[in-house]
Amino acid sequence: MTGEVVIGGAKNSALPLVAATLLAETGRSRLENIPNLRDINTIIRLLEGMGAEIERSDGELQISTAAVSNCQAPYELVKTMRASILVLGPLLARFGEARVSLPGGCAIGARPVNLHIRGLEQMGAEIRVEHGYIIGRAKRLKGADISFDMTTVTGTENLMMAAVLAEGTTCLHNAAREPEIIDLAVFLRKMGAVIEGEGTQTIVITGVEKLSGADCQVMPDRIEAGTFMVAAGISDGDIIIKNAPLAALGSLTAKLHEIGVEIEPLVEFHEDELLTGIPVRVKRQASGLNSLDVKTMPYPGFPTDMQAQIMTLLALARGTSVISETIFENRFMHVFELQRMGADIEVEGRTAVVRGVEKLSGAPVMASDLRASAGLILAGLAADGETVMSRVYHLDRGYSGFEHKLKALGADIKRIKE
Ligand code: EPZ
Repeated sequence: MTGEVVIGGAKNSALPLVAATLLAETGRSRLENIPNLRDINTIIRLLEGMGAEIERSDGELQISTAAVSNCQAPYELVKTMRASILVLGPLLARFGEARVSLPGGCAIGARPVNLHIRGLEQMGAEIRVEHGYIIGRAKRLKGADISFDMTTVTGTENLMMAAVLAEGTTCLHNAAREPEIIDLAVFLRKMGAVIEGEGTQTIVITGVEKLSGADCQVMPDRIEAGTFMVAAGISDGDIIIKNAPLAALGSLTAKLHEIGVEIEPLVEFHEDELLTGIPVRVKRQASGLNSLDVKTMPYPGFPTDMQAQIMTLLALARGTSVISETIFENRFMHVFELQRMGADIEVEGRTAVVRGVEKLSGAPVMASDLRASAGLILAGLAADGETVMSRVYHLDRGYSGFEHKLKALGADIKRIKE
């Protein structure tokens, strides 16, 4: 595949940013570079159901939550998008009450939210779980010293948003360091919050009396950018990604370099600008693809959301690669589909042993989750013959216009039904 591609706004940044607008007692928030995704539609419906006024035009949302009165996140919406849990912190912080459906598990794991709940209880919230709902109350949350047993992305985001209106200071230890958390902290600060340390393992938030609406721009999606980098490698292509957040992709680009996929920044590149998209050229080296071992880790380690995509690439590399999935307990469903396409992969617990093969062959496959669906499409692009992937709705949760962008790069791909 050859040509240019533009990356959309980051889903995992846009979702907490929209949730954060619940904290604004006055004013409107204007969020730009919002991706056109199913999950964004879901969180908009969630906030409108609470009484928020939302105007949407192209990639921009104007949100006023002054009139919010219904602090509920119903099961019907939460079951379609676990990230709905992100309204829990803001609702308790601003309204002192919340009734949010337990998100339940998903294909990749049990996805508990115990660390979210424990942190909120440490801040003085009274929380009980009944009939599948988290029911919380708090006169006013109090600052607390919170240490996460495990690094949790949305847990860190939820507690940041709870702490910005709490009485006193909150310290989050073992906080997640993802760039999306920095994007959220920048927005909260524009709303009037007092936050330090975002992007490190210790975030300190000093509560204020109230917050007001602000403007922000969603960072480019580092996982979409990473997916197109793998697409270039697997198709022996030469792609220009117009706006890759390269500084936020260090662990991926290091691995791709070792495998034999070169990423060349086309403008001056600043390591510390994690949220900035820059033009990069991605090309596979003539020497072909080398195997190597990959272990998913919390940021800045190798992202679990790129595991299925890199596995697809390594399925065609010379030699044997070992992939360890340390974040989620069941994130290898794409293996069984890749095996049907001729990949030589063995799974033992949270480890997959990938022996490279010359070629994959097209086959009917089934998507199981968002990133697996992207990985299977990349496999189909590299395979001999036709691949038909069912349950394409998984893809639409996190990739906007994916098949159109691939087709513009020369791929032979089409959507046959919703
Ligand atoms: C976020 O999920 C992302 N979603 C995921 O992206 C991503 O894969 C994940 O972080 C890891 O990077 C959003 O940001 C909306 P975690 P999150 O809490 O926050 C355990 C995608 O494809 N844990 O960091 O739900 C948990 O079971 C999605 O875009 C607890 O035990 O993930 C997991 O093993 C998929 N208790 C580990 O921590 C808790 O209270 C990391 O989960 C919370 C988490």
